[in-house]
Amino acid sequence: MAFPDSFIYELKQNNPIDSVMSSYVSLIRRGRNSLCLCPFHSEKSPSCTVYLDVSDPHFYCFGCGAGGDVITFIMKIENLDYVEAVKFLASRAGMSMPEDTGGSQAAHIKSRVLEMNRTAARYFFDVLAHSSAGEKGRRYFAERQLSPATITKYGLGYAPDDWYGLSNHMRSKGYSEEELITANLCGRGKKGGIYDQFRDRVMFPIIDLRGNVIAFGGRIIDGSGPKYLNSADTPVFKKSSNLFSLNFAKNSEEKRLILAEGYMDVISINQAGFENVVATLGTALTQEQARLMARYTKEVIIAYDSDGAGQKATHKAINLLSEAGVRTKVIHMEGAKDPDEYIKKFGALRFRQLLDKSGGAIEFELDKCREGLDTDTDEGRIEFLKRCVNVLADISSPIEREVYIGRLADENKVNKEMLVQQVNGVIRKRQKQDQSREWTDIRTFRNRMRTSPDEYAHPREYKAERGIIAYLAANPDEAENISSRISPEDFTTDFNKKVYEKLLEKIKNSSFYDILSLQSEFTADEMGKITEIAVNSKDVNINRTAVDDFINILLSKADNPGDVKNYSDDDFLKYIQSLKSKK
Ligand code: UTP
Ligand code: MN
Repeated sequence: MAFPDSFIYELKQNNPIDSVMSSYVSLIRRGRNSLCLCPFHSEKSPSCTVYLDVSDPHFYCFGCGAGGDVITFIMKIENLDYVEAVKFLASRAGMSMPEDTGGSQAAHIKSRVLEMNRTAARYFFDVLAHSSAGEKGRRYFAERQLSPATITKYGLGYAPDDWYGLSNHMRSKGYSEEELITANLCGRGKKGGIYDQFRDRVMFPIIDLRGNVIAFGGRIIDGSGPKYLNSADTPVFKKSSNLFSLNFAKNSEEKRLILAEGYMDVISINQAGFENVVATLGTALTQEQARLMARYTKEVIIAYDSDGAGQKATHKAINLLSEAGVRTKVIHMEGAKDPDEYIKKFGALRFRQLLDKSGGAIEFELDKCREGLDTDTDEGRIEFLKRCVNVLADISSPIEREVYIGRLADENKVNKEMLVQQVNGVIRKRQKQDQSREWTDIRTFRNRMRTSPDEYAHPREYKAERGIIAYLAANPDEAENISSRISPEDFTTDFNKKVYEKLLEKIKNSSFYDILSLQSEFTADEMGKITEIAVNSKDVNINRTAVDDFINILLSKADNPGDVKNYSDDDFLKYIQSLKSKK
């Protein structure tokens, strides 16, 4: 779908990239550019640069290669396609969309799936609230002490014990069998008909930040099968990147978020008056979800189940969250297996005290070292301290490390200096391991090269092609001259060939253009590679003579130094460092 150039131009004018990005990251001004921690990969020092003082403001991350203009940024961070990202920015700037933009096929499918989900949620809710079939669900929620207000707030429902309840209802509303399968509301049976995916389950709609129903979780009431059934991924749902109840939590006054294990804990904590609670959707916490939380808070209190599995998951969550730059605390629950049970037994007030008393992540980890040991015996205490040394070596702040070492030494009546030495020893050992990991990286790099992405198989051509593209992007007036001398067919690598082709088209057909507005032709990840070309071209000023050389390289295709493959490790290291330093 193409929008008029003038519309896109105005859209970008009204959505300055720095102001849009600063809703997601904190930008630090550095001369003419800005810097930030890249929101698309985990990092501790900022390598994402935002180029502001240029005709085509854009961002580029030197760490992970993500990059593009403000539209690409929104595509990536909000997980939208091109048309949706344009709509998103238009509404942000209060602009109306141009008439008859049609919408892409993908956008159409997504909006149908969202409609279907909303209709299905309504159906499950109505069955629960009004029908005799819903009696079973009503009894279940009553037993779990959910109030009618909570049920309405979360739009909870009941899927009747029927293979065709929902599918008949949806068909009567005009949805086709294929559509129902795409939405994962129905499956196809052996005889070719469709059947309901969720049967005899209480239903938890999963709602995104814009209020769309994007998926469902369904809990069995009795009988066999998995306790919870969750929607598989669909065009509108990726379970690894959404969080249950974030739509409510994001509006909470509280600065910190509570992370619980599942639907019922979240709802029960929320009903007890804590709006700031979320959970993952039937999987362990992912890096994406940790980063999503980092957008809303600096501190997460982990409130997982008190059993072994819950504690293991807590350990993983601490690591993921701290990589995402979020401080973690852990509640220490006694007398109940999960927050839901705790609140029922002891009440909301006691739960609040539990939150306020929650300990830091390091205390949690040190405490865990005691597991299975009798620390009253010498052997137990020695093993305990050995485990603690590993935890202490993980602490990156020297001051914090010092404090915990001191405390541990006092509590266990051992010499502090001795502990310091042990911890430093572990830190040194890990640094060595990191170095050897760098070598592993080089080996992976080589393997990638062997499986021959164009960049490594044809380094000379690759560089020449990118040079030509960069020159063209900066000098559109030369399009005719250059295209008369070299055609896309002369390009060696497919990706560059496509970029060259599309760029020529764009220059021919648009009055307003820049290389970063090729989104309708490329994915957001590919836009990163294109941005890299544009960014490089600003650092190395490519002139006409250079372009002539590049064209000659492509036309002659002579002496291809494909023998990079046979370099020794040392030569190879030099080679990739030279590639890196050119960036
Ligand atoms: P739990 O078994 O602890 O569930 O699983 P719960 O939330 O306490 O549920 P109740 O209290 O028995 O109703 C925690 C989470 O793990 C996922 C669900 O997201 C659940 O909320 N899960 C669990 C599944 O996806 N499938 C399962 O079969 C079990
Ligand atoms: Mn439970």
